[in-house]
Amino acid sequence: MSTTLITNISEAFLSDAAHTLIENAAILIDGEDIAWVGEAEHAPEADSVIDAGQRAALPGWVDSHSHLVFAGDRSREFVARMAGQDYAAGGIAVTTKATRAASDYDLTRLVMGRAAEALVGGTTYLETKTGYGLNVEEEARHARIASTVVDQVTFLGAHLVPSDMDAQEYTDLVCGEMLERVLPFVQFADVFCERGAFDEAQSRQVLAAAKDAGLGLRVHGNQLGPGPGTQLAVEFGAASVDHVNFLDADDVAALAGSWADWDARARTGTAGTVATCLPACDLSTRMPFAPGRELIDAGAQIALASNCNPGTSYTSSMAFCVSTAVLQMHLSIEEAIVAATYGGALALGVQDRVGSLEVGKRADIQLLNAPSVAHLAYRPGMNLSGPVFRAGQLAAGQI
Ligand code: NIG
Repeated sequence: MSTTLITNISEAFLSDAAHTLIENAAILIDGEDIAWVGEAEHAPEADSVIDAGQRAALPGWVDSHSHLVFAGDRSREFVARMAGQDYAAGGIAVTTKATRAASDYDLTRLVMGRAAEALVGGTTYLETKTGYGLNVEEEARHARIASTVVDQVTFLGAHLVPSDMDAQEYTDLVCGEMLERVLPFVQFADVFCERGAFDEAQSRQVLAAAKDAGLGLRVHGNQLGPGPGTQLAVEFGAASVDHVNFLDADDVAALAGSWADWDARARTGTAGTVATCLPACDLSTRMPFAPGRELIDAGAQIALASNCNPGTSYTSSMAFCVSTAVLQMHLSIEEAIVAATYGGALALGVQDRVGSLEVGKRADIQLLNAPSVAHLAYRPGMNLSGPVFRAGQLAAGQI
């Protein structure tokens, strides 16, 4: 195995439990993994050396929530929303129609293009969901296509009840034949537990069936109003509940309580339910921001994710999410980066492999065209993405 030393790094933010920041740093890559991190002056010898040119380094983003399998355009809906119309779950049906009409070739090309955009922006581990198929053949097709492009796929057949079906009949289908058909391609299942989508009883049915099938669980919860989504997620031991805009004190306490057997300093123990905040979506739907500050202060674990989708958040920029979380949600820059890296990894159950710059982890490293990670929020909206390494290889950008 050959080794590569990335040196002359102005500062490296490790996203470890101690939020370590090393000035004048270097990182040694051995094959796919990180073999050493520390001050450049103490760096070991390597087969080859890359000069980072006084750029800052941090882990690649772990985007734990996206909906990339779609065709069509909903910019008119966005324009109408900016003119005052409310977001409604029904917009999903518009994308479903366009996506069903797309060929395998076109859909694969679209997903690959979006994943490539995310990589250029520093995302080195990517989850995406089905949910614009909404019948057995289409959900299975979308799961299969997604599995050829991204790292993890979540089955979201329970995204919306198609207009030509009865809600209970559709829920039974999701929990039966549809679940069976997507199983070879997915790791998690999700349900949109919200007024206008799936009610509590239907959400329970979906989560129970997915759990029985051996899948990890997540819930789209408390996005458009108060509701049972968060409590259900905790009750079922879901890996994450996503959106969390409308939480009451009991919801926050339940999320924090789910981490009672987790040692945050050692990052060991039993993982609870991650609260995944989606600030780009909150802006684009003019919803109140998820209470990220309150959740962290209460002892919950949070993730930041892009929620890239055509309806509520058409961006895969994790840097934008991080700057928004700092500027609007009152997270520190370190908290926001940890949420967008290690937090995402926790939500996906891959925290032992990705999400921080630590020895033995996959060498997923992004260099910023900036001397400090603080520039992510200090220079909002600027493209600071530099070279991106994935599993030890330069995957995007130029040295
Ligand atoms: O995460 N909340 C449900 N699903 C997506 C939106 C889907 C759409 O409107 O197309 C979301 O925001």
